Amino acid sequence: MPRKIIIDTDPGQDDAVAILLALASPEDLEVLGVVAVAGNVPLPLTARNARIVCELAGRPETKVFAGCDRPMSRPLVTAEHVHGKTGLDGPQLPDPTMPLQEGDGVDFIVETLRAEAPGSVTLCPLGPLTNIATAFTRAPDIVGRVAEVVLMGGAYFEVGNITPAAEFNIYVDPEAADIVFKSGVKITVMPLDVTHKALTSATVVEAFRDMGTEVGRMVAEWTDFFERFDKEKYGSEGAPLHDPCVIAYLIRPELFGGRFVNVEIETQSDLTRGMTVADWWGVTDRPKNAMFMGEVDRDGYFDLLLDRLGRF
Ligand code: RIB
Ligand code: CA
Repeated sequence: MPRKIIIDTDPGQDDAVAILLALASPEDLEVLGVVAVAGNVPLPLTARNARIVCELAGRPETKVFAGCDRPMSRPLVTAEHVHGKTGLDGPQLPDPTMPLQEGDGVDFIVETLRAEAPGSVTLCPLGPLTNIATAFTRAPDIVGRVAEVVLMGGAYFEVGNITPAAEFNIYVDPEAADIVFKSGVKITVMPLDVTHKALTSATVVEAFRDMGTEVGRMVAEWTDFFERFDKEKYGSEGAPLHDPCVIAYLIRPELFGGRFVNVEIETQSDLTRGMTVADWWGVTDRPKNAMFMGEVDRDGYFDLLLDRLGRF
């Protein structure tokens, strides 16, 4: 029985690969809907990009909604320096023809969780947690109905990528992250500690290009564009494909390893705003609230990605 999921996303080249992986895996995942959030680029672009990816996957019937256009209580910070002006820079892309769903994406999250059986829907945030936290605030009754939140965000040993202390998704809306991490919902975190081990390579990118498909070409060109930021900053061989780690975990959890610890979010300090403070060594008696991943079978991860995206 495929696992029901809602993808909450700010595409973003790596978000795009995550959405493709999910749509390529109907035996594992039923995508109930995709909700765009402001993050890498403003909401009109993330809502556009999410539809471009669904059409690229040959799935124009996918329900795509627009959610929140800014963080809960701060101005929006975007990441065009990483993802380009459109958020999907690299290849030239036509505008989508599939419609954006009427209605608010946050209402879609609330209504879906109320309509589906309790514990049957997994939320997969790949961007700032604004939509998720807004849904939990608007409808506290849904928190207990969520099977699990599997999110890309945060960092501990790897420290920050947007400031010395914080990873981008959490940094953009730390209040939202604080709400989610304190909600009591079951949480699995894919932080930079693990996604920075999921690095592409020239071999991997060429394998995508050699697929000879539109999807393979797109993923290769997105990665060519996206990796220049990390290569320059970290001197790494390839780009960390952050967001597909969330989807890969749902399909093959054995590829990942981590520790169940307490994670709290810095919201007060300007210096460390958005830091995910993980009590990895158990030096406090704070309640454990998140499975914080740190290890990945990199080869297994890219084998899965190439196999599944090779289906298009
Ligand atoms: O810090 C990496 C995260 O920020 C990824 O989700 C990327 O898409 C951006 O949203
Ligand atoms: Ca993202």
